[in-house]
Amino acid sequence: MKLFGQGRAAVADDAATAERLGWGPRRRSLPEPELVLAPRQGDPRREPWVAPPWYRPGLGVEALRWRPRSRGPWTYLAGVPGVVSGLARLAEPTREGGWSVGLAGLGRVGGVAATVLAASPSRVSGIRELVIHDVDAANQQRWLLELGSIARWRGSGELPLVRTGTPEEIFRRCDAFLFAATRGVPPLGTSGEVRLVQLTPNRAILRGFLAAARRAAYSGLFLVVSDPVEWLAQAAFFDSNSDGEGRFAGEGIAPERIAGLGLGVMWARALAAARRRGWDETLARRGAVYGPHSTEVVAFDDVAAPDRDRSARLSRAARECNFKVRELGHLPYVGPGVSSVGLMLPPLLAGREALASVFVDAIYFGAPARLKEGLYPTARPMADEVWTALAGLHARLLAQARGLGLLWA
Ligand SMILES: NC(=O)c1ccc[n+]([C@@H]2O[C@H](COP(=O)([O-])OP(=O)(O)OC[C@H]3O[C@@H](n4cnc5c(N)ncnc54)[C@H](O)[C@@H]3O)[C@@H](O)[C@H]2O)c1
Repeated sequence: MKLFGQGRAAVADDAATAERLGWGPRRRSLPEPELVLAPRQGDPRREPWVAPPWYRPGLGVEALRWRPRSRGPWTYLAGVPGVVSGLARLAEPTREGGWSVGLAGLGRVGGVAATVLAASPSRVSGIRELVIHDVDAANQQRWLLELGSIARWRGSGELPLVRTGTPEEIFRRCDAFLFAATRGVPPLGTSGEVRLVQLTPNRAILRGFLAAARRAAYSGLFLVVSDPVEWLAQAAFFDSNSDGEGRFAGEGIAPERIAGLGLGVMWARALAAARRRGWDETLARRGAVYGPHSTEVVAFDDVAAPDRDRSARLSRAARECNFKVRELGHLPYVGPGVSSVGLMLPPLLAGREALASVFVDAIYFGAPARLKEGLYPTARPMADEVWTALAGLHARLLAQARGLGLLWA
């Protein structure tokens, strides 16, 4: 095996990619690389461009339930132009000192999320600084003052530093970016769909951030909080990797570096319903939620042996709670800001299992997932009926993505 690269990672037997990276043959005097990366064949529109040994990209939706026993090397799709920045990042020394997190959109959801993150000690959250941005300058300044007023008695330097930044500064400085901006949430009294209607206006805002990310050659995580969560994550992948004619160019953000954060609140809503009936212990240990931050989300009290009636009730609770808050005359944002982002981001960044919508066979699909340079679903044994429900849901969402023009021909 011929290795190329002098850093933490090395590519194996791929002189062409090594040349694109500017990596020469690995010097014999160097220790063994921490990561050995091997090229693989695959469709960059359907699968992650770089994958860790425990993830088999070609498995598609099967990856939700099947985890390979044998471990190979890390793999990558050699033909994709954008893969180079991911490989270069893998070769850099591991980050020390915590994450720098950017957050755009300081509204109800973004404001609550920022509050939780700003009030979590850096040694717990892993976040050393929060760089906030809002198009409304007064609102941005207000949040700088508010978040700057969060402190502990006699604490020094233990909470993340909060500063403001332009999108360009965020993408130059941060390792993770949260998109929580919206042109507007449908007001109280709106009947029916309140998320999908935000796709066109929010996608237009998102495009501005994707352009800034590209100018800054950003290779950090791109996390979507705004609605419709999964379709905006899909749009981030699609728009950043299309050429002027709408064809796949693969020069933008890798699909596994994009994710949606909206499943956390669905889990919290299911758990609250389970608690009311005394099922929460089973749910917490053996249950899970899957699918989109929408009325299509599904909950199972026990993924390996679900009770059909309980699972249906929990799914309903996850789907309907936001409408109940709206009926009471308020927009739901505290649970979302806390559970989808504030409490979810720290374990996610730490590489522990978290709930996120990650790239599974061409679309973003909510599932338990783990960060290992990119975000990948974590497999668990599941009953056949759970598997059938998830495969069916994935197929429906795939068809919807096509209908929305969010897949390449
Ligand atoms: N992921 C979840 O769990 C979850 C749950 C509930 C709601 N949401 C969604 O989160 C989004 C935000 O909701 P909200 O209630 O906070 O909205 P909001 O209207 O209170 O706030 C939106 C903020 O975005 C800012 N903004 C608009 N354009 C911007 C731009 N170009 N750059 C930077 N900032 C910009 C606005 O100034 C405003 O402060 C919505 O799409 C909502 O549907 C997500």
